[in-house]
Amino acid sequence: MNNKVITLSMVTVSIFIISCNNAKQEKDHSDPTIASKRYSGNPITHAFDMEIDSLIDQMTLEEKSGMLHGTSMFTTAGIERLGVPELKMADGPLGVREEISRDSWAPAGLDNDFATYFPAGGGLSATWNTELAYKFGNSVGEESRARNKDVLLSPAINIIRTPLGGRTYEYFSEDPFLNKKLTVPFIVALQNNDVAACVKHYAANNQETNRDFVDVQIDERTLREIYLPAFKAAVTEAKAFSMMGAYNKFRGEYLCENSHMLNNVLRDEWGFEGIVISDWNAVHTSVNSLESGLDIEMGTPKPFNEFFLADPLIDSVKAGKISKTEIDTHVKRIMQLMYTLKSMGGEDRAKGSINTEAHFKDAYDIASESVVLLKNNKNLLPINTASIKTVAVIGANATKKNALGGFGAGVKTKREVTPLEGLKNRLPESIKINYAEGYLERYAPKKEGVFGDVTQERAETIDVLDPKMLEEAITAAKNSDVAIIFAGSNRDYETEASDRADLELPFAQGELIEKVLEANPNTIVVMIAGAPFDISHIKEKSSALIWSWFNGSEGGNALADVILGNVNPSGKLPWTMPKSINDSPAHATNSFPGDKIVSYDEGILVGYRWFDTKNIAPLYPFGYGLSYTTFDIKNARSEKDDAYMENETIYISVDIENTGNMDGKEVLQLYTTKKDSKVDRAAKELKGFEKVFVSKGQKTTVTFAIPVKELAYYDVKNKEWTVEPGTYNFKIGNSSRAIASEVSITIN
Ligand code: BGC
Repeated sequence: MNNKVITLSMVTVSIFIISCNNAKQEKDHSDPTIASKRYSGNPITHAFDMEIDSLIDQMTLEEKSGMLHGTSMFTTAGIERLGVPELKMADGPLGVREEISRDSWAPAGLDNDFATYFPAGGGLSATWNTELAYKFGNSVGEESRARNKDVLLSPAINIIRTPLGGRTYEYFSEDPFLNKKLTVPFIVALQNNDVAACVKHYAANNQETNRDFVDVQIDERTLREIYLPAFKAAVTEAKAFSMMGAYNKFRGEYLCENSHMLNNVLRDEWGFEGIVISDWNAVHTSVNSLESGLDIEMGTPKPFNEFFLADPLIDSVKAGKISKTEIDTHVKRIMQLMYTLKSMGGEDRAKGSINTEAHFKDAYDIASESVVLLKNNKNLLPINTASIKTVAVIGANATKKNALGGFGAGVKTKREVTPLEGLKNRLPESIKINYAEGYLERYAPKKEGVFGDVTQERAETIDVLDPKMLEEAITAAKNSDVAIIFAGSNRDYETEASDRADLELPFAQGELIEKVLEANPNTIVVMIAGAPFDISHIKEKSSALIWSWFNGSEGGNALADVILGNVNPSGKLPWTMPKSINDSPAHATNSFPGDKIVSYDEGILVGYRWFDTKNIAPLYPFGYGLSYTTFDIKNARSEKDDAYMENETIYISVDIENTGNMDGKEVLQLYTTKKDSKVDRAAKELKGFEKVFVSKGQKTTVTFAIPVKELAYYDVKNKEWTVEPGTYNFKIGNSSRAIASEVSITIN
């Protein structure tokens, strides 16, 4: 594979571990290997521009137009006589989607389109591990090439504004820093495989309700500080080759024809050189969309020649409403991408590989670091297999598969290890499993409603238990030494195209869990879900609580390894779990979901920024997650006593000791607070994190390297990022609410 080099430089926020077992400080930062690790992407090639110009000269208007719109569900037209291939795309964030028919959403029915199912966004982000983001990107890039794709419609990186968002499971985080730090290595690794990332959905696409027309209003500072950083890093750091224009409007203009967002911000400000591909059926005009910066229109089935960039565009050119030069600009960008990806032939293009054990191993590694231990009061976990003979496994989620499901893109996979299978794989044969389904996943028939083309009516669940199944579950729990309930949701319930109505657990699972806990107090509750639920009651009643995700092909094995202690849990919540939905910022400000317009009234106070600033206690805070061992974090210190200048990098060291009985990984999180700021600030902002392995009884020193520029706020009046001089507190801990040690720094 070419270009698979991770460049090291002194630029980004990260850490280095100086020494084990002592806290001696290494002073020499000139050695690049102890500076922060940076992933930097490959730019679009311009080496073939003259060849491209000559090819464009030979194209007819019809041929050019064919390259600008879908001529099947996931391809644009090629031009055979000129050796120009189709541009082949595939979803998506969970792995390479199965092949879809050329002219409808029906699966193509092939037997060679299986792929590895990777953990959904929530799972990856809960690892807080940038190396795993890189692994994910690389593996899915190899799989994309093995399926002969040019563009993978991934990653999906919109900020999680509300816990109710239908795509919360697919997105990474409520925090822009965590979001960008995972996005960059993912894209770099993916694109090293001669396949383009299509970063979606640009931008401000934070709800499914009315997504095909809602007009999002966000003040400029909030846009820059919260909703754009990961998109910007995708362009400026990872050099993403394509972006997907979102369905919604932003400040009155659809995102696929929003010249400010596409031409001014994306291209002029950030230097984007790739192509903008529309979301499927997100285009509304011919001339305006192209002139506003869109390059390719994709869509849902209708005759492909009726697409805005098909016959209507050809008519517009003939009528003199749009210039040929404008058309050529877009065709040239697409051709440049094709040469960059080596899809024009000639050069040795990455061939990839698919469904390999190495890829399943990557999916396993991600899953095993993503599981979040929420509660373990009586040390029920990890289960000591030597002391039990029977285990009750209860709940439909013990056997539910999530590679496919709901409205959105999934993966057709030959391997999806369920939690029950995982336990069977890992438990000694001598231990008997008493399985009971416990509850049924049931939905009311859909009502006829008036919805947009791409917005769906949400699924109404049937929330009553079947008395016989309840009885079976209670009996299984009573007759077992330990019970494990696998509850939560699934990808039919949490789905693209609709948001959830509330945080309630569906299918009367709350009642089931309560009854099982009464029957056997040695019950471990495992939630499998991509988004927060109201689990206050469960938190109160149970002594052992685990959170897992739609966690990929190896999800069940990884979960069993955590439950049995083969893996020490190290996942951390990538979003805040509220006690009540009304505590969440978009809901507390009554600004979700809007109607034709949605105004983000909470401003910069998204996620924990709101909870921590307003002093609202969450059920579980951002960054939270326990371990089977304990860590002592102390002695945060700055390397120098003097003030820092704007172009400097701040080095902050902290000691961490594993004070328990098991080796483990901890995620050190660094938050900053600006004292006496002249602008409104959140009480805390994440500015650094690192996952570190510490053997039991050992101590390590971690040093964060934070460029002073990372402390800037967006100054709307002067349209620039500004570092305010003065005192900042740097707080290090293992959740936004568990700060163990802090240090003050002065910036001049
Ligand atoms: C989704 C995109 C997806 C596209 C193609 C749209 O409905 O919003 O994320 O890539 O469909 O499947």
